Parts: sequence; C-alpha cells; structure tokens
Amino acid sequence: MKNKTSRRRFLSQAGLAGAGIAASSVFALPSYSQTAGRSAKATLGLVAPRADFNRRLFGAFLEHLGRSIYTGVYDPGNPLSDERGFRKDAIREVAGLHVPIIRYPGGNFVSGYNWLDGVGPKKDRPTVLERAWNSLETNQFGTNDFMDWAKAVGTEPLLGFNLGTGNSEMAIAYIEYCNFAKGTKWSDLRRSHGYEQPHKVKYWCLGNEMDGPWQMGRLTAREYGRKARDIAQQARIIDADVQLIACGSSNTIMPTYLNWDREVLEECYDQVDGISLHNYFGNEPALSGGKSERFLAQNLDMERQILEITAVADLVQGIYRSPKRLWLSFDEWNVWYRARSREHLDGKGQFAPHLLEEVYNLEDALLTGGFLNTLMRQSERVRVACLAQIVNVIAPLVTNEKGILRQSIYFPYAMVLKYAHGRMLDIQVECETYPIRAAGLRPDFARNENVPFLDVVATYDAKEKRVSVFALNRDLANDRDLALTFEDITPSKVLACETVTGTDLKAFNTFESPNKVVTTKLDAMKAGAKMTVKLPARSYTVVHLAV
Ligand code: AHR
Repeated sequence: MKNKTSRRRFLSQAGLAGAGIAASSVFALPSYSQTAGRSAKATLGLVAPRADFNRRLFGAFLEHLGRSIYTGVYDPGNPLSDERGFRKDAIREVAGLHVPIIRYPGGNFVSGYNWLDGVGPKKDRPTVLERAWNSLETNQFGTNDFMDWAKAVGTEPLLGFNLGTGNSEMAIAYIEYCNFAKGTKWSDLRRSHGYEQPHKVKYWCLGNEMDGPWQMGRLTAREYGRKARDIAQQARIIDADVQLIACGSSNTIMPTYLNWDREVLEECYDQVDGISLHNYFGNEPALSGGKSERFLAQNLDMERQILEITAVADLVQGIYRSPKRLWLSFDEWNVWYRARSREHLDGKGQFAPHLLEEVYNLEDALLTGGFLNTLMRQSERVRVACLAQIVNVIAPLVTNEKGILRQSIYFPYAMVLKYAHGRMLDIQVECETYPIRAAGLRPDFARNENVPFLDVVATYDAKEKRVSVFALNRDLANDRDLALTFEDITPSKVLACETVTGTDLKAFNTFESPNKVVTTKLDAMKAGAKMTVKLPARSYTVVHLAV
C-alpha cells in the first residue's frame, strides 16, 4: 500500500514537473504533459477518504420556453397524452433516464413570471404575453402541474424565484404556498387548489442570470445580493430546510465575471448555500475556430470556470471568516451555438413557437461526455448541475405530434445516469497530449495548452460493489488503448462496455433516421486488477465492472 501511494505521489509530481508524463487527478484542473505513443495508462485507487458525490450533479432543466412545456411535456388533446395532458412518451423517456432533479420554471422566463397565474382552476388562469421569449403563455401548466409531472418522471423539483419583476413579498408567498403545511393565507390557497400536502421543495434558485442585460429586472451585483439576502432570510423562516442558490455570473465573457460573484456573495454569503454557474459551448469561430479538436477540449473551459468560481466563493468565505463553505450549482450547461440567432429567440407573440431547437450531432455528444466527466471530477464542490434543457429546447429529447426522438447528447447523459454511482475514485492518467492555440479565439476560451487525448474519470459504488470508468477519446483519427491498473480493488467481471462513436462527427438523428448516433456495445475485455480497454477514435465510453 505504501508503495502504491508513493507511486501516485511520484506521478503527480512528475506531471507537474513536465517530465513526460501526462497526469490528471480528481478535483483539480487536470494537468498533462506530452508522453509519446497511443497507449495511455490510468491508475485507480481509494486513497483519499471521500464521500459519495451528489446525484443532483446529473440534473436537467425545463423552462417555459418555445415548445419545452407546451407540445413537449404538456399536450392535451394529443392521443399520446394522458388525462392530465402530459405526454406519456416524454414521461417514459425522462423517467427512464432517472434524472435526479429538474429546474423549473426558468431561465429568463422566471424573471417575469407571476406564479399565481399558473395555479388554481385552469379555466381561470390568464393568458399573458411572456416577455423573455416574446411568446403567448396560457398558464395551463404551472407549479402544481410541474409537481405532478415531476412525480410522474420520478424527479426532484428545483424551483426558481422571480427576482426580476418580482418582489420579496411574492417570492415569500411562493415558498409559503409550496412548502408551508397549512393554516396561512398561501398554504391554504394551495390546499384549496387540491394539494393538501406541502410540496416540500428543498432546492431554490434566487432568480436567474441577474447580471444579464437581457434579463427582466436586471440589477447590479450589490442590489441583487441585498435582494437575494432579504428573500433568503425570510424563506428560511417559512422553511428552515431549504437550500438556496444565489445567481452567479451568466457566463465567463460577462465583463463583470468573478467581480459579480464576489460582490453578490459579499452581500449575501451568510444566507445562501450555493452559487450558480451557467455556460454554453460551441464549435464556432470564436470558441473553437471551428476546429473539432479544440471544441472537444471545451469541458476543460467549463472546469476552469468551476475552479475560478470556487476560488471567489472561498475568498468571500475567508473575508468573513465564515465556517460555511459554499457549493456550486452549474444549473445551465450544454452545447448551444446554432439555434441562437434572432429567429430562434423571438417567439413573435405565438403560442409554443419553435425556439432554441438545436440539432445535436456526434461531436456534441462526445463533448457532453466530457462535460459530465468534468462535473464528476469537480463533484467535491459542484453539488447540483442541470443539463439545459430536457425536452425540445436545446435538449436531448425532441417531440413532434407523433412521437419522441433521442438526440445524440441523450446517449452520454443516459450512460452516466445509469452507471455513475457512489464516489469518485482517485485516478492518475498518463496520456499523450495535443496542442491547442489561443490565436483568434474569444479571450475566455483562448488557451495555448496541451490537451490530453483521453479524459478519464471513474466512480466506485461501495454498496453495490461496482466501478465505472468513463473515457472521452478526443483523438479524431485513432483508437487508443487505455491500460487500467486498479489498486485496492480488483474487478472480477465486465458487466457492460458501451460507447458512443461514429465516423462522421457531424452525424445527427432525425425522426426518419433515429439511429445515426446511438450507444453501441464494445467487445468486453478481460476484467482484472490490470486490464486494457480499446477506446475507438472519436468516442465516449463506459466500462462498468463488478469488483
Ligand atoms: O436555457 C436557455 C436560456 O439561457 C435560459 O433561459 C437563460 O437562463 C440562459 O441565458
């Protein structure tokens, strides 16, 4: 055991010294240096005492936006819907994924939302013009409907307060309506709507992207921080068990990035539990120079963002000598760069317009695997994360009148939801790298760096005695061998070995051709303390093992 530990120490020191070994580990930005050849090595063990990661890391997002709710999950009159108007195929797909938590009702939508419009008898609910997406909102789906739907798909709700056009009184009324048992104005209103028991929503977002010029009711960091603190303080009186998430920067290119987070936290640190991060990525000139190899490294940009926001949260903790350590909620992440022009954002006053309907291809699926690896690697600080979104709007699932389609990004997400359980294994990866260049890229994406061809993490489920290794092979041309060495645990059987791969990075699924990008099985290798996995070129792979 002593020897094994010192080998790991040697590897990480060697990696830092740039001694020709590419080394990565959990909970730090992976650092790599060049090593020759296509064979990589990963040493996995149980050295650090570590808690299980929070499954809320694999959440998703459902916003009143475009066809996400209306015709996505709620479509009364469609033969595919149940008596409540819920699309049964969407329920089947989302339930089948076992998504642990879903954020609702927005997004930008929440900053103009009057939650009262969406509760009570449907015939009395007003139709309003929704201003975030310039769409007609009938309010036929509201908070209680979402709670019913969340139950149907087996997920936990993550609700948002309106801190844009909304005031603290209506925010507090909302949490009283949802979480207080009975005997008060708002709790009794809920009961009169047929919901005798409180919904007991634990996780709440204190607004959405309040630094954004596009946001209704945008505030300065100090104004927002004070408003968030006030609402948080009152919310805890209504329900002492809530976990409250302050709005962090909307993305890394905001001119106020990091300073916003610091100022907000300086105002409300004592009253909040987490801070949000959002970011969308893309294979476009500004972010990747249109180069797939740079695009597939963007999970490392996400990782840097996590480390930067962590540093700010810890700075404020230090300033206040607070015993409390904040966690991070990466509650909007995805690839989104094609359906982003005006026509994709403006609903033109229509009901359920086609907005943000991004079509996902193989390379998006691969990077999604990379994002999930990053979230797992940083799971000591990231407690909640939401793939944005879940149905129709920048989503893994797409409906039409007749059915539902799994887009490419569904597959790595499903893989991780199925196989990632327990805690992160300690891992040291030695791997060849390739250079990426900063020239011409947006400053927050510009890097001169060496990127490892392989991005590998592993989970260990002590209860079920299972290990899962998740590997992204960024090599666009070559298969790569990954030699695994397990210290402390010995795999006895390969239970599953699956991959998302293909020859055409731009391939995508359609209703007519739904199987262009799917998960396929790989030939199982022999399990053991030392075993080798062949990772196809352009792939995201899981090896699931009994130990
Ligand atoms: O997810 C789509 C939109 O992106 C959300 O409404 C907003 O929060 C973000 O800018």
